[in-house]
Amino acid sequence: MANGAKIVVDHASKLFLEGTVVAFRNIELNVRSNELLCIVGPSGCGKTTLLRCIGGLLTPSSGQVLIDGEPIRSPRAGVAIVFQHFGLLPWKTVVDNVAFGLKIARLPREGVAERVNHYVQLVGLTGFENHYPYQLSGGMQQRVGLARALAIDPEILLMDEPFASVDAQTREVLQEELLQLHDRERKTMIFITHSIDEAIILGDRVAVMASRPGRVKEVLQVDFPRPRDPAGVRAQPRYTEIRNHIWEELRPTVIM
Ligand SMILES: Nc1ncnc2c1ncn2[C@@H]1O[C@H](COP(=O)(O)OP(=O)(O)OP(=O)(O)O)[C@@H](O)[C@H]1O
Ligand SMILES: [Mg+2]
Repeated sequence: MANGAKIVVDHASKLFLEGTVVAFRNIELNVRSNELLCIVGPSGCGKTTLLRCIGGLLTPSSGQVLIDGEPIRSPRAGVAIVFQHFGLLPWKTVVDNVAFGLKIARLPREGVAERVNHYVQLVGLTGFENHYPYQLSGGMQQRVGLARALAIDPEILLMDEPFASVDAQTREVLQEELLQLHDRERKTMIFITHSIDEAIILGDRVAVMASRPGRVKEVLQVDFPRPRDPAGVRAQPRYTEIRNHIWEELRPTVIM
């Protein structure tokens, strides 16, 4: 089963508050090397908790997570997380927040400024280098989080709704950037989103989660060739087919 998989979630469950809250139960999920796996699912189905277990910030209550065959019990070098709620340091500026990521990753100090500037520019924050998080909009803060994760050039990139607070146009630009980055650098990525469209545009596969208990209901193959052009993908009948299928899976869990 686990042959060739970069990340293996092996019958993992996570319970909180002495077992009274089940974040997710008995999840089995593999992510191949260089794969971009998207996860969709209703609020509270355990997506963030699962990502934190993969990132080594939490440990499953039972079962395990393996990266390159090794059980993960703490954060590992080469794995970067873009947090749902930004995770920025409020007392540091944009560039210092991005540089801080490099420092924690213990990357050499040479070239740090260039690298930081490159990624700040990539996410469209030129001109805001010396702003503090409270001086930025939610979408801009999210982009700082993304720049910080990209700057350490991780092998594995775990992203928790990284584009949720950006406006629609910026979101499309960032989706294209992410597609290009994935084509160029072939990193292994997990991307959580509430947008079915985004999951299909970006993912090689889409894992659909359900709640009570949190679990993976289905994993769909999204077989559009890369490099992908989002508009071209949306124009295909297969796109609509996958979209409708996921929507039917999620519909019972949606709170209108
Ligand atoms: N530290 C914690 N202590 C207790 N319960 C927790 C904790 N973290 C998460 N939970 C519970 O675990 C469940 C899953 O939470 P999680 O944040 O993983 O959901 P999610 O799928 O990311 O939701 P959203 O889409 O709203 O971000 C929820 O019922 C939540 O209340
Ligand atoms: Mg979440």
